[in-house]
Amino acid sequence: MADLNLGRTIFGDPVNAGNTMTEQEALELLRDWVPNERLQLHMRQVGAVMKAWALEKEGLTETQAHQWWLAGVLHDADWDKHPDHHCRIIIEELESRQIDPAVIRTIACHGPRHFGVEPESVMEKMIYVFDELSGFIHAAALIRPTRYEGMDVKSVLKKMKTPSFAAQVNRDEINDALSRIQTPLEEIIGFVLEHQAGVA
Ligand SMILES: [Fe+2]
Repeated sequence: MADLNLGRTIFGDPVNAGNTMTEQEALELLRDWVPNERLQLHMRQVGAVMKAWALEKEGLTETQAHQWWLAGVLHDADWDKHPDHHCRIIIEELESRQIDPAVIRTIACHGPRHFGVEPESVMEKMIYVFDELSGFIHAAALIRPTRYEGMDVKSVLKKMKTPSFAAQVNRDEINDALSRIQTPLEEIIGFVLEHQAGVA
């Protein structure tokens, strides 16, 4: 695997604080950049969970929560076409579009071991928590006849302890992400189940 270390920890320009992209612009970028529909869905799921967390758990405004959504929905935007430069390309695109540095840095924080950027803000910590877990939970839903319907936290926990299930999902990374926040795993799983089930 290519070295994805970004070699820097500061992103964007502080004068762009508050600059955003509309929902339509972000989804357009997604359609242009991400031919893989399953990956697109993953990104929309992470976006939805991020936004819901910002609103429900952090008590943020719609405007602030939109930034959380934006970071989630764009975090893997360059993975399909530029796997060897994953994260760098979308970061540079958002910098050239003069997007809020907090959004850009959050994207840079979704894999500290790969990109070399440590999550500091709550938004940065939560994208790291949700990314792998959201993908894992979706994989678990896909093998159930009723998908998300009737799926509970316990069954997800059981699957996490089965190394052969969704083996590509790194359990160490999930644990590392969780060690940086106060919320227990069970609560996070419940929250993801509740908020990504309806994302199509
Ligand atoms: Fe992801």
